[in-house]
Amino acid sequence: MDYDPYSYEIDEDPYPVYRWLRDEQPAYYNERIDFWAISRFDDCLNALLDWRTFSSARGTVLELMDHELPGSMIIFMDPPRQTRMRNLVSKAFTPRRIAALEPSIREIAVGWLDPLVGAGRCDIVHEFAGRLPMDVISTLLGIPPEDRDMVRGWSNAVLHRDPGNPMPPKLALEAMQEMTAYVSEAIAERRRRPRDDMMSLLLEAEVADEDGSLHRLTDDDIRAFINLLATAGNETVTKLLATAIHLLWSFPEQRKLLLEDPRRIPGAVEETLRYDPPSQYQGRVTTGEVVLHGRTLPKGAKVLIINAASGRDERKYPDPDRFDVLRRFDQHLNFGHGRHVCLGKNLALRESRIALEEFLRRFPEYEVPEGGVERMHSSNVRGLKGLTLVY
Ligand code: HEM
Repeated sequence: MDYDPYSYEIDEDPYPVYRWLRDEQPAYYNERIDFWAISRFDDCLNALLDWRTFSSARGTVLELMDHELPGSMIIFMDPPRQTRMRNLVSKAFTPRRIAALEPSIREIAVGWLDPLVGAGRCDIVHEFAGRLPMDVISTLLGIPPEDRDMVRGWSNAVLHRDPGNPMPPKLALEAMQEMTAYVSEAIAERRRRPRDDMMSLLLEAEVADEDGSLHRLTDDDIRAFINLLATAGNETVTKLLATAIHLLWSFPEQRKLLLEDPRRIPGAVEETLRYDPPSQYQGRVTTGEVVLHGRTLPKGAKVLIINAASGRDERKYPDPDRFDVLRRFDQHLNFGHGRHVCLGKNLALRESRIALEEFLRRFPEYEVPEGGVERMHSSNVRGLKGLTLVY
């Protein structure tokens, strides 16, 4: 056996390979592609916490780790720079602001779902799961409703990859440029006249270092952050929703539990994340030698921390291959852990809960026809790019 995150076979079901890694190769080295992988819960947890040894500065996605990275994305920084950036952007990402989005998120969800009722058939990724997350981010940022379709179009184009090539095609780069120009203009407007939105808060945010010096975000920082949201906060939620809807079809008794009592939906969201998460691994590069399970990872080693494998570790979760919406557990690592833990976690949980509440209310019964599942191909993102429902 071997573990190749680029292979098409692994898209179907990576979990047997992950089990083999945990049991037989807890400090795995892939010589052909030159990377290491860790997969047991405790090892993943420790590595995510140890940011001094496991650096994010060379990127977190395997195919990009040998390339020049955009310099100002928080996800590709180490402390202290990451800490300062995190303190600044957190000022705009407050729990109060996220909680206040509840009615807008519901309105967006209902707006996409209602027209599907009675149609008898739809692709729920194209019509709903792929639309809601970017609309929510637009709302949060303060992008006006009439521009949402355009922004969603760009952000989806940015994620586009041609088969067999992990690098962004021309179409994706052009969309990135157009979005950057649009965001620059929006920032300039808010510099002239601040509004009650996240972009204005990002412009105003200020933090003091230990030595008392004050820092603010530059326009470049804000552009990079918004570009990150358009990927990190968009594709992930789309994939989580599609996976949940697919699982709830595969396990109708679990769906029944949610229909009986919708207060179980938040638990089902966490269980979906544990069972089959959108972001499968977090890449890091070692800053010194690490000894793990009798093997020595050299300095400069590329390491994949496979959080998706940690969620199926029987050393941590009893009967881990069972999807059980009533399962109770203290934590999972599928939003990351430690310094880089997902900034949008509360938003993602809230959004996913609302989306599933409104979805199940309208579609308590549905079937996935033969050939209705279209998997995406990516080294680190797992999920569906198409899911046909008949109802
Ligand atoms: C189910 C949905 C989501 C999943 C599974 C997810 C997963 C993750 C993971 C695993 C990380 C850690 C990356 C690392 O350690 O290298 C992360 C970071 C991040 N996420 Fe999320 N995410 C989700 C939704 C969102 C949303 C909705 C937003 C914002 C709108 C968001 C914004 C971010 C940002 C800004 C970071 C970087 C934080 C930092 O580097 O300090 N995410 N996310």
